[in-house]
Amino acid sequence: MRTATRRRYLMCPPAYFDVAYSINPWMDPAKPVDRAIAMAQWERLRDTYLAHGHAVETIEPVPGLPDMVFTANAATVVDGSVLLARFRHAERADEAAAYRTWFHHHGYADVREPVLINEGEGDFVVAGPRILAGAGFRTDRGAHGEAQEIFGLPVISLVLVDERFYHLDTALAVLDDNEIMYYPPAFSPGSQKLLRQLYPDAIVATDDDAAVLGINAVSDGRHVVLPQAARHLVAELRSRGFEVTGVDVSELLKAGGAVKCCTLELR
Ligand code: ARG
Repeated sequence: MRTATRRRYLMCPPAYFDVAYSINPWMDPAKPVDRAIAMAQWERLRDTYLAHGHAVETIEPVPGLPDMVFTANAATVVDGSVLLARFRHAERADEAAAYRTWFHHHGYADVREPVLINEGEGDFVVAGPRILAGAGFRTDRGAHGEAQEIFGLPVISLVLVDERFYHLDTALAVLDDNEIMYYPPAFSPGSQKLLRQLYPDAIVATDDDAAVLGINAVSDGRHVVLPQAARHLVAELRSRGFEVTGVDVSELLKAGGAVKCCTLELR
């Protein structure tokens, strides 16, 4: 049987959630969003983590920052050290200050200001002994070196090539220290080769899984929470012994985010 380890997550209720601008191909400001549905989907996600025994902290949402629900982009936190995000797009830039304040008020002594652009755990995926890092659309490749210096973990740079999968966490998820699932076509040929070598037994997502952001999942080593529409991944994860909870994140998907995007791990 697989073993879970207790996690601490930071989430932000989608009180001001909206698709008011478009900074990724999923976002169409002409399509209406239903904030009440988004809130119900978010609450269900939070309750799932609580039911699995995890701690969930929340940050107060800020009016005018409709993407703030995607806390994964706020920072990267390893062993209590925090590398804050610096957003690529002006529309999200002000989120950084809100998150900085949150970390300062919650007892984090080692909070680092980034020099280059990085979008937190959106592009830094902590995978046991290493950090997998995405570049191509949001995070600067040079920021990978910053993270390596701050955390003292080897950072492996991966190149994203499909704009639908603009953050690494839309194309790759960690299931356990040395197990991942990912969508190969989102990566450059060299990065695909590297991932095959590092993770020969990885779960490989189908086009249909990827099209519903099914890889945007959170695992505690035993329970995997992911968008329920990713049927193939749900079955594959179960066959490998994970306890799978599929959740409906259809409203959040309109902004190009799903389960993992709404979840920042406080390690
Ligand atoms: N609308 C947001 C953006 O484009 C979605 C962020 C999703 N977050 C993530 N970790 N992939 O920035």
